[in-house]
Amino acid sequence: MIIKNPDPLDFSYVPQKLRFREKQIENIRRIMLEPLKAGISSNLLAFGDSGTGKTSTMRYLSREEKRFFMIYQNALSFSSLRALVLDALSKMGRVTGTKNMSFPEIFRSMKRVSEERGKNIVIIVDEATNLIKFDKDGLYNLLRANEVYGAPISCILVSMEDPTIYMTERDKKSLGVFSTILFNRYKQDELFEILSERARMALEQGTFDESSLEYISEVAEPFGSARVAIELLQKSAYVCQYRDGEKLESEDIRAASSMINPYVTESKLGELEPEELGVLLAVCRCLKDESSTEMACVIRESRVVSEQYFLDIGADSMVYRIIKRLENIGIVEGKVVGRGDRKGVAKMIGINDVPVGVLEEKVMEMFKRI
Ligand SMILES: Nc1ncnc2c1ncn2[C@@H]1O[C@H](COP(=O)(O)OP(=O)(O)OP(=O)(O)O)[C@@H](O)[C@H]1O
Ligand SMILES: [Mg+2]
Repeated sequence: MIIKNPDPLDFSYVPQKLRFREKQIENIRRIMLEPLKAGISSNLLAFGDSGTGKTSTMRYLSREEKRFFMIYQNALSFSSLRALVLDALSKMGRVTGTKNMSFPEIFRSMKRVSEERGKNIVIIVDEATNLIKFDKDGLYNLLRANEVYGAPISCILVSMEDPTIYMTERDKKSLGVFSTILFNRYKQDELFEILSERARMALEQGTFDESSLEYISEVAEPFGSARVAIELLQKSAYVCQYRDGEKLESEDIRAASSMINPYVTESKLGELEPEELGVLLAVCRCLKDESSTEMACVIRESRVVSEQYFLDIGADSMVYRIIKRLENIGIVEGKVVGRGDRKGVAKMIGINDVPVGVLEEKVMEMFKRI
């Protein structure tokens, strides 16, 4: 068993401290919460790609900020903003009785609760895209609750894209000016830090190396997504556990990657010439226990494969050319790395989104058919 506690690998897990989102948290406090303390309401748009920590940041704030009624709502659970706001009222401890309360009634009621308890209100609407597009009336009511009904409410709308792109000039005018907070993609070293923290909490000591976590962060980096990174860690840990492994290996990570990123291997392989398949097989063999390999190994193995399957893989330059083509099709990934002090650079080859064991079998199947 390599997993000691599955919870930190789950999506709903909100870490104790949220690293790399300090700037966003600080901005939300400065732009919205401090003024609200003094009774000044405002509205905020928070947006960024999937997995950039929007939901976690909002949940983190609603857990930490005791000075306000900080109410987190996921818009996908509601058919309209009115239903969402009504539910928020019940979360403030007010029994709502009827489902038919109108906006004025809901906001008046919120105002009373707020005065009784001496706390102003922040309503966070996560995954807000659809409601922003299709519930203009609700949006108008919510964003102007302070102005129109005198209720001390601020609102944070959260979505993947900047929602003002769905708004006409008229919408924007009637809804007032927004501040925006961008959740930028995570960089590889940030993903690595996030993964290290989760792995320490979730996995038994000695069952993972830094190099495995580096490999995962490298695979997740193009998405900039902590969600992708953590999901890869979770799935690869289960793959490892399933095969009774004692330690997370590159092959487990590739298996995990192929699960979240179903890869049309067969159709891609179908396009390849026998010599190209041969070099690919060589790459697979070199990658058996490694996350990446040097060209020297690929060239050596290509000779072996060439003899074994009566192929015509000639000079080294041909192997280089084929590797280039495999990179272009997106089956292998190449990168150039420094060899350390004055030893020049080396080209390293990897395969990230399918287990090399599976790929090797497929290629051998195809050789039987040729
Ligand atoms: N800065 C961070 N530190 C630690 N974990 C993080 C951080 N940011 C995100 N995560 C983790 O990554 C996962 C995805 O994050 P989250 O759900 O907040 O992203 P999101 O921006 O809301 O994505 P989506 O748009 O897909 O809903 C969660 O498991 C979360 O705990
Ligand atoms: Mg989210």
